[in-house]
Amino acid sequence: LRLGAFEDFSTTSLQTNFQRKLYHYGTFSQGFHWGVSSSAYQIEGGWNIDGKGPSIWDKFTQKPGNIPGSANGNVACDSYSRLEEDLYMLRALRVKSYRFSLSWSRIFPDGLRTSLNQKGVDYYNRLIDNLLAYNITPMVTLYHWDLPQALQNINGWDNITIIDIFNDFCDFCFATFGNRVKFWMTFNQPHTIAWSGYGLGQIPPNVKRPGDAPYRVAHNLLKAHAKAYHTYDEKYRKSQGGLVSIALNADWIEPTDVNVPREVVAADRALQFQIGWFAHPIFKNGDYPDAMKWQVGNKSELQGLSESRLPAFTEEEKAYIRGTADVFCINHYTTKIVSHITARLNSPTTAISKQRAVAWGLRRLLNWIKEEYGDPEIYITENGVATDKETTVDDTDRIFYFKTYIDEALKAHNLDGVKVRGYIASSLMDSFEWLNGYTVAFGLHHVDFTNPNRPRTPKRSAHYYYQVIKENGFPL
Ligand code: NOJ
Repeated sequence: LRLGAFEDFSTTSLQTNFQRKLYHYGTFSQGFHWGVSSSAYQIEGGWNIDGKGPSIWDKFTQKPGNIPGSANGNVACDSYSRLEEDLYMLRALRVKSYRFSLSWSRIFPDGLRTSLNQKGVDYYNRLIDNLLAYNITPMVTLYHWDLPQALQNINGWDNITIIDIFNDFCDFCFATFGNRVKFWMTFNQPHTIAWSGYGLGQIPPNVKRPGDAPYRVAHNLLKAHAKAYHTYDEKYRKSQGGLVSIALNADWIEPTDVNVPREVVAADRALQFQIGWFAHPIFKNGDYPDAMKWQVGNKSELQGLSESRLPAFTEEEKAYIRGTADVFCINHYTTKIVSHITARLNSPTTAISKQRAVAWGLRRLLNWIKEEYGDPEIYITENGVATDKETTVDDTDRIFYFKTYIDEALKAHNLDGVKVRGYIASSLMDSFEWLNGYTVAFGLHHVDFTNPNRPRTPKRSAHYYYQVIKENGFPL
């Protein structure tokens, strides 16, 4: 994801009187979860050592030309061998939480419980134990896109048997790490998995079937999430006392014109297609949002649109899915301006969109979630900005982004009463940025990828974030 970033901040002219003051001063509540994020494939490296099996990202990136510079995550930040250095950065930042993901094929090389790789388990045990020793809460994502290739060979998330296979993996992780891990996320950005992976076909497994596959995949993801949640509930919650959620894609969508009803409806439809696709079943009634049913579901035929491509849940399944998250987790990067286009009524969002760095969008998003989903506790599990790869560590743009976005979260928390409980900056350090390889930088720390030792250097934004954490916001 590349953000148009700062030159576009002039879109603040779109503000209504919702935001009167540019900055709000104050602090978050005691015990606020300040953290930083990473994910296994983006930082670990060690792609084929100590028994790790290949993932779909290993396969995709081995093919030259798929990523700029034919880059891959074979070494990445080499975190598999440089755990101490990651821990050092985390301690220096004084974060309360560290969000990372488990590489499924490092633990089960062929994806199945029968193929346990103890060395992979040892690595995560070491990470978790060290975090706890330094008083840092591990926030663990069970699936951050790196599906074991062996499971893709049987169609990955488009095969319903994966629901049980994923549950086995989660069950193992709860049993193995759950005495120390109290914050679990099943999926990172299920919308990306379904839409970019099986609709647009841009990311592995590169299936380009927007007409049906994403809806089937999302259906399976929702069931897999719910199953893992129930496993935790039934077998582990009582003894371990943790919580389980899912990290949802959550851009803010602003209508082109708030005074034109159909533009407002179009923007809401886009929110429902992105956030509601997963949040409506989990946080509301176990079922997809009406906006989706009208557009691509069983009600779309009433509008003379295509046949339903949205699978339906049985009543039993709805009851099983409803309520399967203990808190609301969002990955938020940008605001999109959306407009209704009659000609494209049959497309998933009926929208054209632009990406902007617009901090006030975060406040609106948080308020929208509060109203739409009954005032849940919210964790911002990713927020950050891509810059061109810095040659220096003087990243003024990133400081500005964090300052304005965190301040909007603070407004939501202090002025609007939104239950914002945590903020996780994306990301701990520059890393393998998926389709962009190493050409863009999200990190609070610079990593020199030309040096085999992958030295990490704090950027100015790391020092800035340290201050914000220390002061718990922006006290007067
Ligand atoms: C969201 C993904 O979860 C994360 O892995 C990625 O680095 C960011 N988007 C930025 O593109």
